[in-house]
Amino acid sequence: MHASSSFPSSHGSDASWVVADATAAAAPASPEASRSGRDALAHLVGSSALMTRLRTRIARAARTHASVLVQGESGTGKELVANAIHALSERSHQPLVVIQCGTIPDAIAASELFGHERGAFTDARAPRRGRFECAHKGTAFLDEVGDLSPLVQVQLLRTLQFGEISRVGADHTHKVDVRVVAATHRPLEQMVADGRFRQDLYWRLHELPIQVPALRERAEDVPELLSTFLDRANLRYGRAVPGVTDDAMRALLAHSWPGNVRELDHRVRRAVIESECDVPLGVRAFDLPDAGAANAPDGSRLGAILVETESEMVARALAVCSGNRTRTALALGISRRTLQKKLARFGIR
Ligand SMILES: Nc1ncnc2c1ncn2[C@@H]1O[C@H](COP(=O)(O)OP(=O)(O)OP(=O)(O)O)[C@@H](O)[C@H]1O
Ligand SMILES: [Mg+2]
Repeated sequence: MHASSSFPSSHGSDASWVVADATAAAAPASPEASRSGRDALAHLVGSSALMTRLRTRIARAARTHASVLVQGESGTGKELVANAIHALSERSHQPLVVIQCGTIPDAIAASELFGHERGAFTDARAPRRGRFECAHKGTAFLDEVGDLSPLVQVQLLRTLQFGEISRVGADHTHKVDVRVVAATHRPLEQMVADGRFRQDLYWRLHELPIQVPALRERAEDVPELLSTFLDRANLRYGRAVPGVTDDAMRALLAHSWPGNVRELDHRVRRAVIESECDVPLGVRAFDLPDAGAANAPDGSRLGAILVETESEMVARALAVCSGNRTRTALALGISRRTLQKKLARFGIR
Protein backbone atom coordinates (compact mmCIF):
# COMPACT_ATOMS: atom_id res chain seq x y z
CA MET A 1 0.00 0.00 0.00
CA HIS A 2 1.18 3.53 -0.66
CA ALA A 3 1.85 5.76 2.30
CA SER A 4 1.78 9.51 1.79
CA SER A 5 4.43 11.82 3.22
CA SER A 6 5.14 15.51 2.70
CA PHE A 7 8.26 17.51 2.00
CA PRO A 8 9.35 19.73 4.86
CA SER A 9 7.48 22.99 4.54
CA SER A 10 8.97 26.32 5.52
CA HIS A 11 5.51 27.31 6.78
CA GLY A 12 5.35 24.34 9.09
CA SER A 13 2.31 22.86 7.39
CA ASP A 14 2.11 20.12 4.83
CA ALA A 15 2.65 21.29 1.32
CA SER A 16 -0.40 20.75 -0.79
CA TRP A 17 -1.16 20.71 -4.46
CA VAL A 18 -2.71 23.99 -5.29
CA VAL A 19 -3.62 23.96 -8.93
CA ALA A 20 -7.17 22.77 -8.35
CA ASP A 21 -8.70 26.13 -7.45
CA ALA A 22 -8.35 28.48 -10.39
CA THR A 23 -9.76 31.40 -8.47
CA ALA A 24 -7.68 31.04 -5.31
CA ALA A 25 -5.79 34.28 -4.82
CA ALA A 26 -2.16 34.06 -3.77
CA ALA A 27 -0.60 36.35 -1.19
CA PRO A 28 0.76 39.63 -2.63
CA ALA A 29 4.28 39.28 -4.00
CA SER A 30 7.19 40.83 -2.04
CA PRO A 31 8.71 44.14 -3.32
CA GLU A 32 11.75 42.26 -4.71
CA ALA A 33 9.45 39.77 -6.43
CA SER A 34 7.46 42.63 -7.95
CA ARG A 35 10.69 44.18 -9.22
CA SER A 36 11.87 40.96 -10.88
CA GLY A 37 8.34 40.53 -12.25
CA ARG A 38 8.41 44.01 -13.76
CA ASP A 39 11.80 43.17 -15.32
CA ALA A 40 10.33 39.98 -16.77
CA LEU A 41 7.39 41.93 -18.21
CA ALA A 42 9.81 44.47 -19.67
CA HIS A 43 11.40 41.66 -21.70
CA LEU A 44 8.12 41.46 -23.58
CA VAL A 45 8.53 44.32 -26.04
CA GLY A 46 5.44 45.80 -27.74
CA SER A 47 2.85 48.48 -26.94
CA SER A 48 0.00 47.32 -29.17
CA ALA A 49 -3.44 46.81 -27.65
CA LEU A 50 -2.92 43.03 -27.94
CA MET A 51 0.36 43.19 -25.98
CA THR A 52 -1.22 45.40 -23.33
CA ARG A 53 -3.99 42.87 -22.96
CA LEU A 54 -1.41 40.07 -22.75
CA ARG A 55 0.44 41.84 -19.92
CA THR A 56 -2.83 42.25 -18.03
CA ARG A 57 -3.56 38.53 -18.37
CA ILE A 58 -0.04 37.65 -17.23
CA ALA A 59 -0.37 39.83 -14.13
CA ARG A 60 -3.79 38.36 -13.38
CA ALA A 61 -2.47 34.80 -13.77
CA ALA A 62 0.48 35.57 -11.50
CA ARG A 63 -1.90 36.51 -8.67
CA THR A 64 -3.47 33.03 -8.61
CA HIS A 65 -2.17 29.48 -8.19
CA ALA A 66 -4.17 28.24 -11.18
CA SER A 67 -2.47 26.22 -13.87
CA VAL A 68 -1.98 28.24 -17.01
CA LEU A 69 -1.98 27.03 -20.60
CA VAL A 70 -0.02 29.39 -22.85
CA GLN A 71 -0.83 28.93 -26.54
CA GLY A 72 0.44 30.66 -29.62
CA GLU A 73 2.39 30.09 -32.81
CA SER A 74 6.07 29.24 -32.68
CA GLY A 75 8.28 32.21 -31.85
CA THR A 76 5.54 34.41 -30.36
CA GLY A 77 7.15 34.55 -26.89
CA LYS A 78 5.40 31.79 -24.92
CA GLU A 79 8.52 31.09 -22.88
CA LEU A 80 8.85 34.79 -22.00
CA VAL A 81 5.21 34.72 -20.86
CA ALA A 82 5.84 31.69 -18.63
CA ASN A 83 8.93 33.36 -17.13
CA ALA A 84 6.95 36.54 -16.44
CA ILE A 85 4.11 34.65 -14.72
CA HIS A 86 6.62 32.96 -12.40
CA ALA A 87 8.62 36.14 -11.77
CA LEU A 88 5.49 38.13 -10.91
CA SER A 89 4.10 35.44 -8.61
CA GLU A 90 4.72 34.90 -4.92
CA ARG A 91 6.80 31.86 -5.97
CA SER A 92 9.41 34.00 -7.70
CA HIS A 93 12.08 33.18 -5.08
CA GLN A 94 11.49 29.47 -5.59
CA PRO A 95 12.66 27.49 -8.60
CA LEU A 96 11.19 27.70 -12.07
CA VAL A 97 11.85 24.25 -13.47
CA VAL A 98 11.60 23.89 -17.24
CA ILE A 99 10.47 20.51 -18.51
CA GLN A 100 10.92 20.05 -22.25
CA CYS A 101 8.07 17.61 -22.81
CA GLY A 102 8.95 16.74 -26.39
CA THR A 103 12.41 15.46 -25.52
CA ILE A 104 11.56 12.95 -22.78
CA PRO A 105 11.61 9.35 -24.05
CA ASP A 106 8.87 7.16 -22.53
CA ALA A 107 11.41 4.75 -21.03
CA ILE A 108 12.87 7.38 -18.70
CA ALA A 109 9.91 9.75 -18.38
CA ALA A 110 8.74 8.58 -14.94
CA SER A 111 12.24 8.73 -13.49
CA GLU A 112 12.92 12.12 -15.11
CA LEU A 113 9.67 13.69 -13.90
CA PHE A 114 9.23 11.99 -10.54
CA GLY A 115 12.71 10.70 -9.64
CA HIS A 116 13.79 7.23 -8.56
CA GLU A 117 14.99 5.33 -5.53
CA ARG A 118 18.31 3.51 -5.36
CA GLY A 119 18.10 0.15 -7.10
CA ALA A 120 14.82 0.98 -8.88
CA PHE A 121 16.46 -0.17 -12.12
CA THR A 122 19.90 -1.35 -13.19
CA ASP A 123 21.54 2.07 -13.51
CA ALA A 124 19.86 3.58 -10.42
CA ARG A 125 22.91 3.49 -8.15
CA ALA A 126 21.75 6.48 -6.12
CA PRO A 127 18.36 8.00 -5.40
CA ARG A 128 17.53 10.96 -7.63
CA ARG A 129 14.98 13.74 -7.41
CA GLY A 130 12.69 14.22 -10.38
CA ARG A 131 11.80 17.52 -12.06
CA PHE A 132 8.56 17.89 -10.07
CA GLU A 133 10.37 17.43 -6.77
CA CYS A 134 12.91 20.06 -7.85
CA ALA A 135 10.02 22.45 -8.55
CA HIS A 136 8.51 21.99 -5.07
CA LYS A 137 7.06 25.34 -3.86
CA GLY A 138 7.95 26.87 -7.22
CA THR A 139 6.70 26.58 -10.78
CA ALA A 140 7.04 23.78 -13.33
CA PHE A 141 7.04 25.04 -16.90
CA LEU A 142 5.86 22.20 -19.14
CA ASP A 143 7.13 23.41 -22.49
CA GLU A 144 5.64 21.89 -25.66
CA VAL A 145 3.12 19.98 -23.60
CA GLY A 146 1.37 18.96 -26.83
CA ASP A 147 4.33 16.68 -27.58
CA LEU A 148 3.77 14.47 -24.50
CA SER A 149 3.32 10.78 -25.29
CA PRO A 150 0.07 9.08 -24.16
CA LEU A 151 1.99 7.25 -21.41
CA VAL A 152 3.49 10.40 -19.92
CA GLN A 153 0.12 12.17 -20.22
CA VAL A 154 -1.35 9.55 -17.84
CA GLN A 155 1.53 9.89 -15.39
CA LEU A 156 1.27 13.66 -15.39
CA LEU A 157 -2.51 13.61 -14.95
CA ARG A 158 -2.17 11.50 -11.80
CA THR A 159 0.27 13.99 -10.35
CA LEU A 160 -1.99 16.92 -11.15
CA GLN A 161 -5.07 15.17 -9.76
CA PHE A 162 -3.62 14.06 -6.46
CA GLY A 163 -0.85 16.58 -5.94
CA GLU A 164 1.58 13.85 -5.14
CA ILE A 165 4.38 12.01 -6.80
CA SER A 166 5.89 8.60 -6.37
CA ARG A 167 9.55 8.08 -7.21
CA VAL A 168 10.17 5.02 -9.38
CA GLY A 169 10.86 2.11 -7.01
CA ALA A 170 9.35 3.88 -3.97
CA ASP A 171 6.56 2.33 -1.90
CA HIS A 172 5.11 5.67 -0.81
CA THR A 173 4.05 8.98 -2.33
CA HIS A 174 5.10 12.57 -1.57
CA LYS A 175 2.85 15.58 -1.59
CA VAL A 176 4.26 18.30 -3.83
CA ASP A 177 3.31 21.95 -4.10
CA VAL A 178 3.98 22.93 -7.69
CA ARG A 179 2.32 25.56 -9.81
CA VAL A 180 2.07 24.45 -13.42
CA VAL A 181 2.46 26.65 -16.48
CA ALA A 182 2.25 24.71 -19.74
CA ALA A 183 2.85 25.93 -23.28
CA THR A 184 2.35 24.60 -26.75
CA HIS A 185 2.23 25.80 -30.35
CA ARG A 186 0.06 22.82 -31.26
CA PRO A 187 -3.74 23.05 -31.65
CA LEU A 188 -4.43 21.23 -28.38
CA GLU A 189 -8.24 21.46 -28.73
CA GLN A 190 -8.00 19.73 -32.11
CA MET A 191 -5.67 17.12 -30.64
CA VAL A 192 -8.24 16.43 -27.91
CA ALA A 193 -10.97 16.11 -30.57
CA ASP A 194 -8.73 13.69 -32.53
CA GLY A 195 -7.99 11.64 -29.41
CA ARG A 196 -4.29 12.56 -29.46
CA PHE A 197 -4.35 14.50 -26.18
CA ARG A 198 -6.26 13.46 -23.06
CA GLN A 199 -9.27 15.65 -22.44
CA ASP A 200 -8.99 15.32 -18.64
CA LEU A 201 -5.36 16.48 -18.76
CA TYR A 202 -6.30 19.32 -21.10
CA TRP A 203 -8.87 20.63 -18.59
CA ARG A 204 -6.39 20.33 -15.73
CA LEU A 205 -3.84 22.44 -17.63
CA HIS A 206 -6.36 24.85 -19.08
CA GLU A 207 -7.62 26.54 -15.89
CA LEU A 208 -6.36 29.89 -17.17
CA PRO A 209 -5.74 30.02 -20.92
CA ILE A 210 -3.41 32.68 -22.33
CA GLN A 211 -3.20 33.22 -26.08
CA VAL A 212 -0.04 34.92 -27.32
CA PRO A 213 -0.86 36.83 -30.53
CA ALA A 214 1.04 36.23 -33.77
CA LEU A 215 3.26 39.12 -34.89
CA ARG A 216 1.22 39.68 -38.06
CA GLU A 217 -1.80 40.45 -35.84
CA ARG A 218 0.11 43.31 -34.21
CA ALA A 219 2.25 44.71 -36.99
CA GLU A 220 2.37 48.03 -35.12
CA ASP A 221 4.84 46.36 -32.70
CA VAL A 222 7.35 45.73 -35.50
CA PRO A 223 9.16 49.12 -35.25
CA GLU A 224 9.67 48.80 -31.47
CA LEU A 225 10.83 45.18 -31.72
CA LEU A 226 13.07 46.09 -34.64
CA SER A 227 14.73 48.86 -32.68
CA THR A 228 15.25 46.55 -29.65
CA PHE A 229 16.80 43.81 -31.77
CA LEU A 230 18.91 46.30 -33.74
CA ASP A 231 20.35 47.71 -30.49
CA ARG A 232 21.11 44.19 -29.28
CA ALA A 233 22.70 43.16 -32.58
CA ASN A 234 24.82 46.34 -32.68
CA LEU A 235 26.04 45.62 -29.16
CA ARG A 236 26.67 41.94 -29.82
CA TYR A 237 28.55 42.43 -33.07
CA GLY A 238 30.26 45.74 -32.24
CA ARG A 239 28.38 47.65 -34.93
CA ALA A 240 26.56 50.98 -35.16
CA VAL A 241 23.84 50.34 -37.78
CA PRO A 242 21.50 53.32 -37.25
CA GLY A 243 18.17 51.90 -38.46
CA VAL A 244 16.37 50.90 -41.64
CA THR A 245 15.29 52.74 -44.77
CA ASP A 246 11.63 53.73 -45.28
CA ASP A 247 11.31 51.03 -47.97
CA ALA A 248 12.66 48.40 -45.59
CA MET A 249 10.26 49.51 -42.86
CA ARG A 250 7.34 49.24 -45.28
CA ALA A 251 8.40 45.74 -46.30
CA LEU A 252 8.88 44.68 -42.68
CA LEU A 253 5.42 45.97 -41.77
CA ALA A 254 3.85 44.11 -44.70
CA HIS A 255 5.68 40.81 -44.10
CA SER A 256 3.51 37.99 -42.71
CA TRP A 257 6.10 36.78 -40.11
CA PRO A 258 5.42 33.02 -40.11
CA GLY A 259 8.25 32.64 -37.57
CA ASN A 260 6.92 35.56 -35.50
CA VAL A 261 9.21 37.54 -33.17
CA ARG A 262 12.00 34.97 -33.38
CA GLU A 263 12.07 35.42 -37.17
CA LEU A 264 12.33 39.21 -36.82
CA ASP A 265 15.19 38.84 -34.31
CA HIS A 266 17.08 36.46 -36.62
CA ARG A 267 16.52 38.58 -39.74
CA VAL A 268 17.84 41.66 -37.94
CA ARG A 269 20.92 39.83 -36.65
CA ARG A 270 21.68 38.44 -40.09
CA ALA A 271 21.15 41.82 -41.74
CA VAL A 272 23.55 43.49 -39.28
CA ILE A 273 26.21 40.79 -39.68
CA GLU A 274 26.00 40.87 -43.48
CA SER A 275 25.82 44.64 -43.92
CA GLU A 276 29.15 46.13 -44.96
CA CYS A 277 28.96 49.53 -43.38
CA ASP A 278 26.95 51.29 -40.70
CA VAL A 279 24.22 52.82 -42.87
CA PRO A 280 20.44 52.24 -42.63
CA LEU A 281 19.51 48.70 -43.73
CA GLY A 282 17.60 48.48 -47.01
CA VAL A 283 14.90 46.01 -48.07
CA ARG A 284 17.42 43.60 -49.55
CA ALA A 285 19.28 43.24 -46.25
CA PHE A 286 16.25 41.41 -44.83
CA ASP A 287 15.81 39.02 -47.74
CA LEU A 288 12.04 38.89 -47.23
CA PRO A 289 10.26 36.33 -49.44
CA ASP A 290 7.25 38.61 -50.02
CA ALA A 291 9.35 41.72 -50.70
CA GLY A 292 9.93 40.37 -54.23
CA ALA A 293 6.49 41.57 -55.30
CA ALA A 294 7.39 45.12 -54.38
CA ASN A 295 10.42 44.95 -56.69
CA ALA A 296 8.65 43.30 -59.62
CA PRO A 297 8.77 45.48 -62.76
CA ASP A 298 5.05 45.16 -63.58
CA GLY A 299 1.67 46.36 -62.35
CA SER A 300 1.82 43.98 -59.37
CA ARG A 301 4.47 46.25 -57.85
CA LEU A 302 2.12 49.20 -57.60
CA GLY A 303 -0.59 46.93 -56.18
CA ALA A 304 1.79 45.58 -53.53
CA ILE A 305 2.93 49.07 -52.54
CA LEU A 306 -0.66 50.28 -52.24
CA VAL A 307 -1.63 47.31 -50.08
CA GLU A 308 1.43 47.81 -47.84
CA THR A 309 0.79 51.53 -47.49
CA GLU A 310 -2.89 51.07 -46.75
CA SER A 311 -2.26 48.32 -44.21
CA GLU A 312 0.42 50.46 -42.56
CA MET A 313 -1.92 53.49 -42.38
CA VAL A 314 -4.73 51.43 -40.89
CA ALA A 315 -2.39 49.81 -38.31
CA ARG A 316 -0.95 53.21 -37.34
CA ALA A 317 -4.35 54.87 -37.05
CA LEU A 318 -5.57 52.00 -34.87
CA ALA A 319 -2.50 52.32 -32.64
CA VAL A 320 -2.91 56.11 -32.37
CA CYS A 321 -6.58 55.60 -31.40
CA SER A 322 -5.54 52.99 -28.78
CA GLY A 323 -7.43 50.25 -30.59
CA ASN A 324 -10.75 52.13 -30.56
CA ARG A 325 -12.35 51.18 -33.87
CA THR A 326 -14.99 53.90 -33.99
CA ARG A 327 -12.37 56.64 -33.54
CA THR A 328 -10.03 54.90 -36.02
CA ALA A 329 -12.77 54.80 -38.65
CA LEU A 330 -13.50 58.50 -38.05
CA ALA A 331 -9.78 59.37 -38.29
CA LEU A 332 -9.47 57.51 -41.60
CA GLY A 333 -12.71 58.96 -42.96
CA ILE A 334 -14.28 55.55 -43.61
CA SER A 335 -17.22 53.70 -42.08
CA ARG A 336 -16.70 51.37 -39.14
CA ARG A 337 -17.87 48.49 -41.33
CA THR A 338 -15.26 49.28 -44.03
CA LEU A 339 -12.62 49.49 -41.30
CA GLN A 340 -13.64 46.04 -39.98
CA LYS A 341 -13.26 44.61 -43.51
CA LYS A 342 -9.82 46.18 -43.93
CA LEU A 343 -8.67 44.94 -40.52
CA ALA A 344 -9.75 41.41 -41.43
CA ARG A 345 -8.08 41.65 -44.86
CA PHE A 346 -4.75 42.86 -43.46
CA GLY A 347 -4.86 40.44 -40.51
CA ILE A 348 -4.83 43.32 -38.01
CA ARG A 349 -6.69 42.80 -34.69
N1 LIG B 1 7.41 40.40 -27.16
C1 LIG B 1 8.70 40.07 -27.28
N2 LIG B 1 9.65 40.99 -26.99
C2 LIG B 1 10.97 40.71 -27.12
N3 LIG B 1 11.43 39.51 -27.50
C3 LIG B 1 10.54 38.55 -27.79
C4 LIG B 1 9.13 38.79 -27.68
N4 LIG B 1 8.49 37.66 -28.02
C5 LIG B 1 9.44 36.76 -28.33
N5 LIG B 1 10.67 37.28 -28.19
C6 LIG B 1 11.96 36.63 -28.48
O1 LIG B 1 11.72 35.75 -29.58
C7 LIG B 1 12.35 34.49 -29.36
C8 LIG B 1 11.28 33.40 -29.29
O2 LIG B 1 10.55 33.55 -28.07
P1 LIG B 1 10.05 32.28 -27.25
O3 LIG B 1 11.11 31.22 -27.20
O4 LIG B 1 9.49 32.73 -25.95
O5 LIG B 1 8.88 31.79 -28.23
P2 LIG B 1 7.96 30.52 -28.15
O6 LIG B 1 6.58 31.00 -28.37
O7 LIG B 1 8.23 29.77 -26.88
O8 LIG B 1 8.43 29.70 -29.41
P3 LIG B 1 8.38 28.11 -29.68
O9 LIG B 1 6.93 27.73 -29.84
O10 LIG B 1 9.13 27.94 -30.95
O11 LIG B 1 9.02 27.45 -28.50
C9 LIG B 1 13.15 34.63 -28.08
O12 LIG B 1 14.46 35.02 -28.42
C10 LIG B 1 12.44 35.73 -27.33
O13 LIG B 1 13.31 36.41 -26.47
MG1 LIG C 1 9.04 27.88 -26.54
